[in-house]
Amino acid sequence: MPFPAVDLSVPGLEELGRRRSAKWAGVAPGVLSSTIAETDFPIPEPVAEALHAAIREDDLGYVPSRPAGLGEAFAGFAQRRWDWEVDPGHVRVLPDVMDGLIELRRLLAGSGGLVGFADPAYPPFHRVLPQAGVAVRPLPLAGESTEDPWALDLDALDAALADGLRVLVLANPHNPTGRALPVAELAAIAERCAAAGAWVLADEIHGPLVLPGATHVPWLTVSDAARECGVVLTSASKAFNLAGLKAALMVTAPGAARDAVAALPDRANRAGLLGVVGARAAFEHGDAYLDALLAQLDHNRTLLGERLAAEVPAARWTPPDATYLAWLDLRDLGLGDHPAAVLHRRGRVALSPGRHYGAPGAGWARLNFGTSPDLVEETVRRMAAAL
Ligand SMILES: Cc1ncc(COP(=O)(O)O)c(C=O)c1O
Repeated sequence: MPFPAVDLSVPGLEELGRRRSAKWAGVAPGVLSSTIAETDFPIPEPVAEALHAAIREDDLGYVPSRPAGLGEAFAGFAQRRWDWEVDPGHVRVLPDVMDGLIELRRLLAGSGGLVGFADPAYPPFHRVLPQAGVAVRPLPLAGESTEDPWALDLDALDAALADGLRVLVLANPHNPTGRALPVAELAAIAERCAAAGAWVLADEIHGPLVLPGATHVPWLTVSDAARECGVVLTSASKAFNLAGLKAALMVTAPGAARDAVAALPDRANRAGLLGVVGARAAFEHGDAYLDALLAQLDHNRTLLGERLAAEVPAARWTPPDATYLAWLDLRDLGLGDHPAAVLHRRGRVALSPGRHYGAPGAGWARLNFGTSPDLVEETVRRMAAAL
């Protein structure tokens, strides 16, 4: 075996607190950060080796438009993980997924266009997607009275399409709920959007993080309608913990969507070469790491449920299908609309405030369990102590 067994050991809180990334730099010393979607795990050994080699060789210049091997590496990964056949010649490089969403929105929404997304949403969808001449339409989820409360409300989508929705940004798996959208729902969305002439920007950044028991269905495998109207944006950044290195991918199928994105100016030289090097190594050699990671996250998900039930029984949650993010309903804790602020102040534990994800997030918070079991337990212990 060319690389040693997968190491998922996490340092203690003191060492994590010295990290310079947003998750840890954003909290005071001693505060347990369970915020930004980064994990605390080591990166895969083959990725570290590829990054060290690039630095040793002083190979740190600009990213070319078509980085050697990257499209092929992603196509191989997509085939192995999801049985999705990707044409490596049509994998384009972006600095990150948000950059792709912003640029594609500019290109595809048109003046006066409406852009929609499921609400609650990754906070920048609310903040960054509106622009001069483009309004956003947060679309509600089906709701608690329905069989599948976190499904997209298709009547609301129909109404938005009738009002001129031009672009639907569809995060699958969804952040913050961690829900992996079933194929029937994806097909229904595709049919509606294609019939109305709207584009779907399928944000699949969390796709590799589907946990045991669930499946990730890539948008471009859903149907002809999906392939015609959809663009996939994805990245190695979440699963392999490389977000700061800046590289993401845009994928299309032949047809209208591929023709439309051909007009997008090249974004590759805004990406980071280390991001490209890391992504290629992750897609080529990261399967063993990813399998170990998913097993660890599955364990942490169970542990989180047990600890919450024992120590914070008023917290309600649906374990996510995917991601290391838990969307917690804390409305019964009696802490008001901003429970994360109270937990932070009293318990020295930082969760992401639910309200940042949109109006439906009032009284909710997002917890990141992409860390050691010890720190998952400590997170819940601190929440309980704050009560
Ligand atoms: C659904 C979703 N989309 C996009 C992003 C941001 O990705 P990037 O850093 O590639 O812009 C995130 C980050 O957490 C996310 O959860």
